[in-house]
Amino acid sequence: MVHRARRGYCDAMLKYLKHGVSHAAGGLLNLILDSPLFYNPPLQWLKAKILNSLYGARISPQTILKSGVRAIAWDNVQIEAYAYLSDDVTVHARAPVFVGAGTTISPEVFIGSGGHNPADLAVEATPVRIGRCVFVGARAVILPGVTIGDHAVIGAGAVVVNDVPSCAVCVGVPAKVVRHKEEPEEIWTVFGRKKVEEIFRGAVDEGFDS
Ligand SMILES: CC(C)(COP(=O)(O)OP(=O)(O)OC[C@H]1O[C@@H](n2cnc3c(N)ncnc32)[C@H](O)[C@@H]1OP(=O)(O)O)[C@@H](O)C(=O)NCCC(=O)NCCS
Repeated sequence: MVHRARRGYCDAMLKYLKHGVSHAAGGLLNLILDSPLFYNPPLQWLKAKILNSLYGARISPQTILKSGVRAIAWDNVQIEAYAYLSDDVTVHARAPVFVGAGTTISPEVFIGSGGHNPADLAVEATPVRIGRCVFVGARAVILPGVTIGDHAVIGAGAVVVNDVPSCAVCVGVPAKVVRHKEEPEEIWTVFGRKKVEEIFRGAVDEGFDS
């Protein structure tokens, strides 16, 4: 009896120890990957490679993930080439989250594909899709199930609860379309100005598209 209790205690200790070690290792890895070495070209590809091989993410090597970019369940995260996630972007990827090629996401944006049902608080998860060449302003919140069309613009601080059409400029809480913009022929990326056609073709060729 005493022997069984002692074994149960040892198993529990071992479990907590393993959890603690893996948590600490994850924290240390995050600190290392936050270094400018890992988000500035030419070595930015290393961050994608590490997140892809350790956590099963699908991130193009031609992507900038600045310091403080964090995800829950990297294996649900897919990011195409020339996308730029600025400081402290959080991807709460309970369900798949897709970020298209050439998309720029400003600091402290929260992208959540999971939540709790208001009725009984049951955990829910619905994919989020952010199209190509989209701009998301600082501290915007993208809620579960939302699809944002290519070339859309989301204003700073917007809370996006519904789908956003391509080329729409959307602001406010809840986010509403205030105007539509022309589809550009080329856009700014951290890797230099690029033809939109080239960005779309490159993403498909690279195979990080869905
Ligand atoms: C959305 C944004 C791109 C719109 O730019 P724009 O097309 O030049 O639009 P305007 O400035 O003409 O604004 C259009 C209307 O939306 C309102 N508006 C603009 N941005 C808004 C925002 N973030 N939240 C709420 N309302 C906003 C304006 O007050 C204006 O309203 P009005 O027509 O009643 O006067 C810009 O305002 C924005 O939010 N940029 C994000 C900047 C940022 O986050 N930078 C981070 C560092 S990269």
